[in-house]
Amino acid sequence: MPAITLDPRLPDFFVELDWRERKRLGQVFDDNLVRHYEAGDVILLKNPPFRIASDVFRRVSFPPGVDYKKLHARSLTRPKLYKPKVVKFLYGVFGADVVGYLRFRRAVRDLTAQLTEFCHQVFRTYRFLQHDVNWRFTPTGPEPLHFDHLRSKDDRQYVRVFLNLDETPRIWRVGPHLEEMMERFYDEAGLADMQGAHANEVCYRMTYQILERWQEVADGSVPRHHVEFQPGEVWLCESRINSHEIYSGKRAAITHFHADPQSMLNPELSVGNRVARALARRRLPANASPQSGLPPVAA
Ligand SMILES: [Fe+2]
Repeated sequence: MPAITLDPRLPDFFVELDWRERKRLGQVFDDNLVRHYEAGDVILLKNPPFRIASDVFRRVSFPPGVDYKKLHARSLTRPKLYKPKVVKFLYGVFGADVVGYLRFRRAVRDLTAQLTEFCHQVFRTYRFLQHDVNWRFTPTGPEPLHFDHLRSKDDRQYVRVFLNLDETPRIWRVGPHLEEMMERFYDEAGLADMQGAHANEVCYRMTYQILERWQEVADGSVPRHHVEFQPGEVWLCESRINSHEIYSGKRAAITHFHADPQSMLNPELSVGNRVARALARRRLPANASPQSGLPPVAA
């Protein structure tokens, strides 16, 4: 399991679930996992069910660059059609080894299918509207702490399963939850002006107005758990609720499955509803909030 160094200033968001228990517990296991996911926990899935062709994936390595950081499966399996720039990198990896490339392509398709089946089984009530898997083959990090923020204004809930395909740990830091940050920095973020805003707009505002400036305070004063996901490990979390940063990592497969929030086990816990409630709770100015142990943002 991952090596975790907990920051005592933050709640422990990590929950370990053993997939082997599913045989005995069936749907009870699935619902427990989904409830933790919807609660905003980071789920560490022990003994995950995925067959991963690690040797095939570890042959592939792309240079750093935003163009190649997140690739859709089709960009790897039909690059000439969808991502011509990737062709030269794939050629650099496989050269004339056509069989090697075909194995890689099959491995991408196979793991995509396994992830899709996993999400449909475990998140059994979810009505999925889109199935994207992001493939990462570039060195990443260190990143700034952020909430994932998308341009879309659709009312969607996302299911995110992370697999470390690399031979080295994927190192994350996990900070406070979105709602805690909204309460703590309501005034500094100008959230009074954002009543009715889409959750993605709020995630964007909290990232660039607060988290980015927060990084400027003395190193170490920003509370963050440190976690090193080992090769082959699998974890799940709602990355718009959990602030996070990739400290380092390379190869990974990450689901980005869109679902109708009304199909959640508890739709009240959708990111959209959480944000709407947090916006509606007008809090005292930050400095007058005695409960919060979070340091201020830079002036
Ligand atoms: Fe992220």
